[in-house]
Amino acid sequence: MSTEKKNSKSRVYVINGPNLNMLGKREPEVYGFLGLDEINRQLAYVAEDLDLELTFFQSNHEGVILDKIHEIFEENPAGVIINPGALTHTSVALRDGLLLLSCPIVEVHLSNIHKREPFRHKSMIADIVTGQLTGFGHYGYHMALNAIHQLLKAV
Ligand code: DQA
Repeated sequence: MSTEKKNSKSRVYVINGPNLNMLGKREPEVYGFLGLDEINRQLAYVAEDLDLELTFFQSNHEGVILDKIHEIFEENPAGVIINPGALTHTSVALRDGLLLLSCPIVEVHLSNIHKREPFRHKSMIADIVTGQLTGFGHYGYHMALNAIHQLLKAV
């Protein structure tokens, strides 16, 4: 019975790319002092309020992230939040993989990539995702989840 209820919740995948497992230790003046586990823990509270189910995934490997996106494709999720880290600026493969998905996709960056080095201004996925949130620290993930929630309500 309770499994049935759980399965009826809309599932949102939260994908983080290379080096984001080092948040908290990595350039905290740029990315903040919270580790990824803490960011995810806080996001799980937001999800509870919005009645959404989250699945978290992080990898430092492009191919592993692509494999996960292929798995997600088979599951037909309600939404995807992705911070691809440096792959944002380089990965045509990531862009092609995300094009498989028909659900809302929100691109999140803790730092404002447009205020940083010129090579970070270009996102390989910005024009194929639903929207981009950049520069709001870990609140960007909260905003992304709220946006997906609103989009699901509007359907
Ligand atoms: C980042 C920005 C990227 O340029 C960088 O390579 C990261 C993190 C961000 O969250 O601000 O790893 O995606």
